[in-house]
Amino acid sequence: MNIYGNYQPLLENLLAQTMEHFESINQAYAKQHGDHLYEHLIGRVKTEASMTEKCERKHLPLTPHSALKENKDSVGIRVVCNFIDDIYQWIDLIDSWENATIIKKKDYITNVKPNGYRSYHLILDQELPETDVDGNTPGHYYIEIQLRTIAMDTWASLEHEMKYKHEVKHAEMISQELKRVADELASCDVSMQTIRQLIREED
Ligand code: GTP
Ligand code: MG
Repeated sequence: MNIYGNYQPLLENLLAQTMEHFESINQAYAKQHGDHLYEHLIGRVKTEASMTEKCERKHLPLTPHSALKENKDSVGIRVVCNFIDDIYQWIDLIDSWENATIIKKKDYITNVKPNGYRSYHLILDQELPETDVDGNTPGHYYIEIQLRTIAMDTWASLEHEMKYKHEVKHAEMISQELKRVADELASCDVSMQTIRQLIREED
């Protein structure tokens, strides 16, 4: 049986619909201001296998309720921005969306993880006409949104790859180097933003 029960197509629709919403805002913004609010966007419905693995890890029963309510990242979208400011602008925009409420915010940009990881994570509670697994109509469905700069994204991809290479010989040294690079990239993000500000002031 599918861990999502009969909800898989609904989740796929929710993902597509939300990504289209991001895309249309990005286009409208570019038309008005000349530059984009994000550089690229990716999204996924968590695979059954990885949702099952996560539920097992958290000692949750393998049910649609665990997959859709206890876990709040069955639908995930990553918004990769050019500048740090754009991330916070997105958060204000998302905050204003109708039928959707931000129920959790984790600012790993201000509160950097000890390993150097930076991103802004939020959980959106999206209302849909379809009844949810708890029997609520309208239903409540969760979406995890990760917002990062290109530099943060580059770092996270490399770090993610390293994490799964268990046989690394110089783990401690590699962690230290990764942390150093994360901080250098963060400093570049700040510089890039300052440069953009200078350019905008010239207009
Ligand atoms: P979960 O229940 O596992 O989602 O725990 P959580 O909600 O406490 O996790 P959190 O919101 O902190 O992070 C979830 C996601 O962020 C992960 O699936 C990764 O995509 C990303 N992430 C968090 N920390 C790191 C990190 O140190 N390195 C990388 N590469 N990605 C991270
Ligand atoms: Mg999470």
